[in-house]
Amino acid sequence: MGKTVRAHANIALIKYWGKKDERLRLPLMSSLSMTLDRFYTDTKITESDLNHFYLNGIEQIGQSSQRVFTYLKFLQDKFGVSGNLAVRSTNHVPTAAGLASSSSAFAALAGAFCSHYGFEIEPKELSRLARMGSGSACRSVFGGFVLWQKGEDDTTSYAYALNEKPEMDLQLLAIELNPKPKKLSSTEGMKQATSSPFFKPWLQRNQTELDQMITAIQNNDFTALGQLAELNANEMHAINLTAQPGFTYFEPQTIAAINLVRHLRETGIECYYTIDAGPNVKVITRLKNVKEITNQFVSQFDNVKIVNASFGPGLSYLD
Ligand code: DP6
Repeated sequence: MGKTVRAHANIALIKYWGKKDERLRLPLMSSLSMTLDRFYTDTKITESDLNHFYLNGIEQIGQSSQRVFTYLKFLQDKFGVSGNLAVRSTNHVPTAAGLASSSSAFAALAGAFCSHYGFEIEPKELSRLARMGSGSACRSVFGGFVLWQKGEDDTTSYAYALNEKPEMDLQLLAIELNPKPKKLSSTEGMKQATSSPFFKPWLQRNQTELDQMITAIQNNDFTALGQLAELNANEMHAINLTAQPGFTYFEPQTIAAINLVRHLRETGIECYYTIDAGPNVKVITRLKNVKEITNQFVSQFDNVKIVNASFGPGLSYLD
């Protein structure tokens, strides 16, 4: 009997934004993330007469269930097993978080698949399997600071924990400014981004930025970590603007939030931002500044929702 598997979402400090193989989801760059305690997905798989996918108790039809079944079929073929499956997932990613849940969703799915069939595999192998559901999911197999080494091929592209239980005083404020669904999926956005004339130079910086980030983590250097995370996110969004054709995930509120973070920094409240494939902003700061930053966002934006998170664990098996 398979167990319910819990996977936490992660946020990239050095972004994955481009594939060299779409089917295997092999990335063009290595990436580095922190796993988040507040956001997670619980998933259990059982046998069934037909394939079913329930999210938060509601049966899903259409695109999101199709992606789940295509992935499960891929895993079944890989392991030489068959049969229809019922997938029950609960997303503990508050809509207010403005965080995509594909990292926790596909890590939990990969874990639940193996648990259902009784396959006992190493975390590294599980990371490879999760990667094929959604690239960022390979990092959610582990807790704390996680590195996804791009590798050369399917067997060498996986994530591992750099530090499962970091000591660093680091809080991530997920700030929802705009609840509208994103215009372009990550999968499509990163495909288009590779056409930017700045994409190649950015790729060439990947190893340097990664090394600098690892050093910042090892030295418990919050300032270096924040500066680098912000630079890397700005690079990703500059690539989008300069793609052919160009595009952006930014909305007017995104720019206003960036300006607020910069203003707070000038007034001595140390904080940095990172932004994924959507208009919402995540602020990186220390515990002592959470209250002040929250107050500032609440007073300057209408209907803003804020959730603060810190380091979360890797996959866990419930029941
Ligand atoms: C901007 O993992 O969602 O969040 O592999 O196509 O499913 P697919 O993409 P996905 O992309 C995440 C992009 C990002 C940066 C990151 O998490 O590294």
